[in-house]
Amino acid sequence: MAEIIGGVATTHVPSIGGAIANNKQNDPYWKPFFSGFDYVHRWLADTKPDVAVVFYNDHGLNFFLDKLPTFAIGAAKEYRNEDEGWGIPVSHSVTGHPAVSWHLINALVADDFDMTVCQEMLVDHAVTIPLALMWPTAAKTGQWPVRIVPVEINTVQHPLPSLARCLKLGRSIGRALESFPENLRVVVIGTGGLSHQLDGERAGFINKDFDKQCMDALAKEPEAITRHSIHDLVELAGAQGVELLNWMAMRGALTGAVTEVHRNYHIPVSNTAGATMVFENRPTARLRAA
Ligand code: DHB
Ligand code: FE
Repeated sequence: MAEIIGGVATTHVPSIGGAIANNKQNDPYWKPFFSGFDYVHRWLADTKPDVAVVFYNDHGLNFFLDKLPTFAIGAAKEYRNEDEGWGIPVSHSVTGHPAVSWHLINALVADDFDMTVCQEMLVDHAVTIPLALMWPTAAKTGQWPVRIVPVEINTVQHPLPSLARCLKLGRSIGRALESFPENLRVVVIGTGGLSHQLDGERAGFINKDFDKQCMDALAKEPEAITRHSIHDLVELAGAQGVELLNWMAMRGALTGAVTEVHRNYHIPVSNTAGATMVFENRPTARLRAA
């Protein structure tokens, strides 16, 4: 059976790709952010996942405003990145895991999540930057140690799915992963956030107190913040802070006993409060056996 070993959440700002390309990880501006990944690297070296389910939002590379699914999932053998116009290198392609994808798709549709199924799917910075942060050596060679299943959530064009709905989506995926018949080690990843707003009157808006509340809630009791409507969330976290939806879905997929093992929070990373968290998941099946 597949085992969900844990979850990683991280911001996905494109300029991180520029910092990596120019080896700026130790510059005073970037160091407080990049050093938050030392722990993540050790954790990944210890836990050795085979598959990563990546909850993210596309920003116009694969989907555009003319056709924008609320929830989409990749079922491709390979996911390519392309130039999005940020002036950063195009990432190496990432291998998919179609068998896991189709297992999730069948389970999700049976569970009343009407997913858009993508047998071809470009992945943007919201997938490639987190992968490059988590596996910096592989990002250079393209020899990624994991195969991925991208799960895309609309955080761009309203109406957006609620925090509660994204938590349920994650839970449905977590249950489905646990019933995948092969012995795979799965890490779930949530990208984006935390609070930020890129345009309009409140451009540059960041809400440190709310970010802390969200990180605490994700660690202990994710339901504590699902009462917030999307409009509350825009007010509290900024127009792009709604990317918290990806973190919520990731947290939902941690279906066992969850422990926060790492947190880094730093302002600013471009226009955002950059945050990184790692959660360990002790599958309930193993808890029952113990
Ligand atoms: C920035 C943040 C994002 O989430 C994004 O998708 C693009 C840019 C930024 O802060 O620059
Ligand atoms: Fe974004």
